[in-house]
Amino acid sequence: MTSLLERASEYSPSHLLQKVLRTGNVRVALNLLGPAMRGLVMHNGKQSASDMQASHMVHFDWTYQRDQPELRKLYELAKVSQWNATTDLDWSINVDPYDSRFDLFPERMSPLPDIPAYRGLSEREKQTHRHGLVSWMLSQFLHGEQGALFAACQVTEAIQWLDGKLYGSTQVVDEGRHVEVFYRYLNEKLGKLYTVNDNLYTLIDALMTDGRWDLKFLGMQIMIEGLALGAFGTMRQTSREPLLRELLKYVITDEARHVHYGVVALREHYHTLPEKDRREREDWAFEVAVLMRNRFFAHEFYDEFYGQTMSRKQWDELILNSAYMRNFRQTMFRRLVPNLKRINLMSDRIRPTTPPSACSSGSTRRPPPSSTPPTSSATPTHRSSSTDPLASAAANLRRRAGLRREPLPGTTRAGSTYSRTASRRSGSPPTSTA
Ligand SMILES: [Fe+2]
Ligand SMILES: [Fe+2]
Repeated sequence: MTSLLERASEYSPSHLLQKVLRTGNVRVALNLLGPAMRGLVMHNGKQSASDMQASHMVHFDWTYQRDQPELRKLYELAKVSQWNATTDLDWSINVDPYDSRFDLFPERMSPLPDIPAYRGLSEREKQTHRHGLVSWMLSQFLHGEQGALFAACQVTEAIQWLDGKLYGSTQVVDEGRHVEVFYRYLNEKLGKLYTVNDNLYTLIDALMTDGRWDLKFLGMQIMIEGLALGAFGTMRQTSREPLLRELLKYVITDEARHVHYGVVALREHYHTLPEKDRREREDWAFEVAVLMRNRFFAHEFYDEFYGQTMSRKQWDELILNSAYMRNFRQTMFRRLVPNLKRINLMSDRIRPTTPPSACSSGSTRRPPPSSTPPTSSATPTHRSSSTDPLASAAANLRRRAGLRREPLPGTTRAGSTYSRTASRRSGSPPTSTA
């Protein structure tokens, strides 16, 4: 077993703590410190299994009142939208990562053409790298789905509304099916599985171990699933591999319901929270967005293919300016910002800014299937020019907190400001109705 100190070359505990104390919201920083230590310092996700200590309150309702019509409707929609991954997908399709007629993911959407070492490879070698990158992306989808499965279990236990619990039961089934299909595709068709990214691990750890029901909704239903919905849509629209496209189509119909569930569960609650608590959620969402962005640096893929040819800093800079990361920013604006606005977590102090062209040019957005509920607006707020909504939001926070400028991770600020989960803290599920 590797000790913490042996692993702390990149993020020593004292370095991490210094960064934590420089953040604008110490409560958020302290709540994320534990997950960050386990994910970014100890690299717990690189082990074959992980145990996380849950601490949320489980709520029983012995009256069985059905008083949430919107969730009731969503539950009915979920029941008639179920599908069987074994019989509804054609698993007999042969997937050949080296057949360019059925490109899994277009090269132009990846950071690979920007890498000098990649450009010098033979076509066969390039295909091997592309296969690796797609396998990495789908592996992270799979790990995220496992997190979604357990998060759905937790919010089903914690939410007070019976209609929410009934709907949650369908999401548990949905997420189990998503784990099934992504694992089967990786195992049977691509033959490759990457370990969970440290940033994603940290995020999942934070959701699983924090006792507050609303943070589970916010982190998983709004943030992770909102971004995943955009990423799935991009991949489905650009892939030429028919089984992957079909698989993603089914998954997208489910995910759209899940994000909508999160918005319904949180919007009234966050409009009635005391300002101090609301701001804490807002800052927490910002840190989660940073973790999600850092996941996209694909360090597991880098370690395998480019760790010997370029430094991680060079790699991160290259990724940051790639079309691949531009797509992440656009997806974030389209999928996250509108929903954060709906649930009252996008005040002026944190609102990112971007030019309208950043959201419209090269758009890869695909409208969700007609059977799915609306989950996001396509019209984000634009106030001034910037290309990175996270950097923009961070600048807003720094300015209002009177802090000096500190670059975000992935630019020059490696690590970020993750802090400790209140592992024994338990929040109260909502008591009011929408
Ligand atoms: Fe899912
Ligand atoms: Fe989901």
